[in-house]
Amino acid sequence: MTAQSMDHESPMTGIRVESWNEWDPLRHVILGRATGCHIPPGEPAVDAKVPEDSEMRGQHGMRSRESIDRGNELLDRFAGQLRARGIQVDRPTPIDFSQPVTTPDFHTGSQFGCMPPRDVLLTVGKEILEAAMSYRCRWFEYLCYRPLLTRYWREDPEFRHEAAPKPRLTDADYREDYFADAIDIATRLEWTSRKYFVTTEHEPLFDAADVLRFGRDLVVQHGFTTNLSGVEWLRRHFPDHRIHPVNFPGDPYPIHIDATFTPLRPGVILNNPKRRLPDDQREFFARNHWEIIDAAPPAHNAPPPLCYSSTWLSMNVLVLDPKTVCVEKSEVYQAEQIDRLGMEVVEVDLRDAYAFGGGLHCSTADVLREGGCEDYFPHAAG
Ligand code: ALA
Repeated sequence: MTAQSMDHESPMTGIRVESWNEWDPLRHVILGRATGCHIPPGEPAVDAKVPEDSEMRGQHGMRSRESIDRGNELLDRFAGQLRARGIQVDRPTPIDFSQPVTTPDFHTGSQFGCMPPRDVLLTVGKEILEAAMSYRCRWFEYLCYRPLLTRYWREDPEFRHEAAPKPRLTDADYREDYFADAIDIATRLEWTSRKYFVTTEHEPLFDAADVLRFGRDLVVQHGFTTNLSGVEWLRRHFPDHRIHPVNFPGDPYPIHIDATFTPLRPGVILNNPKRRLPDDQREFFARNHWEIIDAAPPAHNAPPPLCYSSTWLSMNVLVLDPKTVCVEKSEVYQAEQIDRLGMEVVEVDLRDAYAFGGGLHCSTADVLREGGCEDYFPHAAG
């Protein structure tokens, strides 16, 4: 094995892919990289997510060398912390994100990056599924993970490497109302409350980070990046699972469930108090004796510069096992809350890497967790 491939991959030690939930003991994970990350040019799905007052509006191109180096330094340190706990850590192989993406249906001037594998790769049991993403700039991002997925496929005879149909991403996928230059928050919240999202139902779309895995049950956020056709596609693709679409009306930019709804262990979920699960959707969790707790407030009043995500990356934690949780080092209130719940907190310094695509959960994708497929919701929806 060359020095370079050693850097990208863990040594081959009998690879097995299997993970059914967000909390069983983590044994093997993919952790992203900041290398080459770009702010992509405007396009319908990206523009809908970038806040009106963000410095990112109207600018695009490669992020600064200093910020990328700093992001990679923190991600490498996070990898070291996980490895020190015996967790195998693999890293993606970045492609040249300055290249445009041109298909018969669209063109965009550059790509994005490969810091958040969580958005692209959905691990369900012995399968890793490449998502049908709605951002044109992320159309080829799966290529960064192909060296790893190909290796897993060769090594683990039970691994199912799947890819959802690539969406065409013509303008028919996006609502024109969202193309407006400035949309105030009140309008956004009203649109969100009536599930009028930027993506249409023209074809199935979903990001893997809109899905939370609870054994036999998959909870899927219907929002900007996942449409109802995407939810239906997942339902048909995973016939042995029960799929539960959820909405969080308080979120003006409903993208990815993992700064909104965070299961910590069987029976306990943190919910963003600004994006509360509606009562009619909570009932299913209550009936199955799952407690939904308001998450502690973020420690920051604003996200770091040039960041897509909100301050609620505070709750974007990575659960290592039902008693141990990685929390971003500066998020003292979130750490205190998790400590009070009787779990060990592992501090991870990652805030300066948020701009590359999110927090601790976003920057990882499961390869192996111990445990099998359990039924945590024996009392079906009424
Ligand atoms: N959508 C998530 C947030 O920004 C990542 O809060």
